[in-house]
Amino acid sequence: MAAITFPKGFLWGTASASYQIEGGWNEDGKGESVWDRFSHTPDKIKHGDTGDVACDFYHRYQDDIALMADLGLNAARISLSWPRIMPLGKGAVNQSGLDFYNRVVDEMLKRNIQPWVTLYHWDLPQALEDVGGWPNRDLAEYLRDYAAVVADSLGDRVKHWMAFNEPWIFTILGYLMGIHAPGRHDPAQAIKATHTVNLAQGMAIKALRESRNKPEAVGTAFSMSPVHPKTGSLEDRAAAERWHRFYNLWFLEPVMNGKYPQAYVEGAVEDHVEIRAGDMDTIKAPLDFIGINLYTRAVVAHDPQDHNIGVRQVRAGGEEVTDFGWEVYPQALSEMILRIANDYPGLPIYVTENGCSYGDKPGANGKVNDQRRVMFLRRFIAEVGRAMQAGADVRGYFLWTFTDNFEWAEGFQQRFGIVYCDFKTQQRIVKESGHWYSELARSGALDFDPVLE
Ligand code: NOJ
Repeated sequence: MAAITFPKGFLWGTASASYQIEGGWNEDGKGESVWDRFSHTPDKIKHGDTGDVACDFYHRYQDDIALMADLGLNAARISLSWPRIMPLGKGAVNQSGLDFYNRVVDEMLKRNIQPWVTLYHWDLPQALEDVGGWPNRDLAEYLRDYAAVVADSLGDRVKHWMAFNEPWIFTILGYLMGIHAPGRHDPAQAIKATHTVNLAQGMAIKALRESRNKPEAVGTAFSMSPVHPKTGSLEDRAAAERWHRFYNLWFLEPVMNGKYPQAYVEGAVEDHVEIRAGDMDTIKAPLDFIGINLYTRAVVAHDPQDHNIGVRQVRAGGEEVTDFGWEVYPQALSEMILRIANDYPGLPIYVTENGCSYGDKPGANGKVNDQRRVMFLRRFIAEVGRAMQAGADVRGYFLWTFTDNFEWAEGFQQRFGIVYCDFKTQQRIVKESGHWYSELARSGALDFDPVLE
């Protein structure tokens, strides 16, 4: 056994999102979100599940934060529900919504848990979808104004912010593939949505920085996967590079360098995206850190039928998978971190999400013995250590997630938590992986067998 020792001050936390845990969907003046609307629409979510109650974090936040502290975690990623704070997405502020997040933040600080706050983790106010949703450029200004409101209220205590969570996922799955809210299938609108989100990212970051409560660091949590070609052919390798640019860099390259990556197989970006004069200056707002959300790798082949990115996703074949069906490929994490560290030098990196879905339930002894999750985490976290040994400046790891919660279109079917949640009784049981992670957070030392793992 070898040990990988992480530096003192390294952040060990968990990540979560408002709609996935809070419940209280229509309490105390909260407005409707696109996820409320989507989950209340028949046949959108497995088993008709909704986030109406979820983990009831809205009422149980004190106990959950106490449990995080008991486990020795020193940071937590949460997101704010925009419609809880601004029920219509613009204009009037709902003070009780802001009060709720003020109580959550105070509770975290009281327990020495550093709050890392995401402005937008997918629960768009429905009123803004009703005026066109993310394809409507006006939304960039609305997000900016909302950012200013929350920075003013929370920014004296919240010093670490993320503008967006996984902008690629909610624009593409929401507006192109239709499997996430708002459930649209419109390629042209989806690309427009990505451009508004890029504008919004630049504007919100500037608003956070201009607040009287200066942040220490602002970033975004990007969905990322290293992209591997199906074969060694020139076509597949070129396809993999295009997918890397589209999937990993579509929102990172614009905010860092004020330009889109060249990802299209035919034509320039300007032929596909309507970019108005001044847009790229608005969009450029170089981040203070890069957040990487990573679960697996991507394998792709060249697809001559697709005249956009020219890519087809394929399976590796014979791979080990989680209960969600995602390939378990630990080296993906070090590979991605090192590529980003190399291509965007000088910026700290945080793993803002990593984890796995396994459906283990309490056994006869009442314990949840989720050994597959322990093994998954050991192998992935070892890769974080490897990337650091190779020179990457990684400063924290946020495990997805604390309690099992509402997994979007999968409802409650997929369990990612290190704390089991009984959604009927709201009982919490710390899983074996939770105890294991607690040890790691306290010691900063990962026992690891380089031969076996
Ligand atoms: C990424 C998303 O940010 C989060 O909301 C989701 O639950 C996890 N991945 C797992 O799919």
